[in-house]
Amino acid sequence: MSSKSLVGFIGGTGPEGLGLGLRFALSNIKVIIGSRTIENAERAVSHIKSKVPNGYISGGLNWEVAEKCDPVFIAVPYQAQRSTLEELKDRLANKNVISVVAPLKFENGIAMSEAVPAGSAALEAAHILNKSMVSAGFHNISARDLLDPNAIIDSDVIVFSDNDECKSITMGLAKLLNGVRAIDGGGLINAKYAEDLTALLLNINKTYKAHSAIRITGIEV
Ligand SMILES: NC(=O)c1ccc[n+]([C@@H]2O[C@H](COP(=O)([O-])OP(=O)(O)OC[C@H]3O[C@@H](n4cnc5c(N)ncnc54)[C@H](OP(=O)(O)O)[C@@H]3O)[C@@H](O)[C@H]2O)c1
Repeated sequence: MSSKSLVGFIGGTGPEGLGLGLRFALSNIKVIIGSRTIENAERAVSHIKSKVPNGYISGGLNWEVAEKCDPVFIAVPYQAQRSTLEELKDRLANKNVISVVAPLKFENGIAMSEAVPAGSAALEAAHILNKSMVSAGFHNISARDLLDPNAIIDSDVIVFSDNDECKSITMGLAKLLNGVRAIDGGGLINAKYAEDLTALLLNINKTYKAHSAIRITGIEV
């Protein structure tokens, strides 16, 4: 990723996109927050600017982000992934696309992973975006921690991709988060394990009233 790269967020107005955007802006990365509406994008940009006044941060409609940025994060709820990506597919061709999507549903207050016919949200994204380089990661860190610029993120970020350069870009971004170790999780076929773990962590958070995360032990990174 060059210093001129613009890192974009499709659905960047939710806590996950906003939190990652804030952290990258703190690391002097140029960030564009995308939304379906300019009003939401501008509100998100104002929030990040209030925490990072000297950051390079702007907003736009999702299609503008897809056109201008590389890499581009997909940070919409799983239920919105297919329609969002089908609309942006041509604009995302030949770009690095990073999925943070965890397919989740809630029943009686319990988080559960949603069955995805393709095997995982990341594999589904890769099938739709068949002209893009797709990676997946950041599933197991709490957006609440990301949104507190002073919080150390006590977590590993496991990154998956079938494209070496895309994986390397994604791991490089993960390492910018204070406290994070980036772990190579192999190909996209493995992304489902990290996606599913998100539901478990949410249920643990509820029990312990905490922001749980994960560490892989037994490896030197
Ligand atoms: N929150 C976390 O702690 C966390 C942690 C790890 C991974 N994740 C994953 O990251 C993704 C984003 O999480 P989040 O909590 O930020 O999600 P969110 O707040 O539910 O949604 C993010 C944004 O997606 C857009 N959106 C919502 N419904 C849409 C639809 N039907 N079509 C198109 N866009 C839509 C909205 O932006 P506009 O209305 O502005 O367009 C919304 O602000 C999810 O897939 C989640 O599983 C979240």
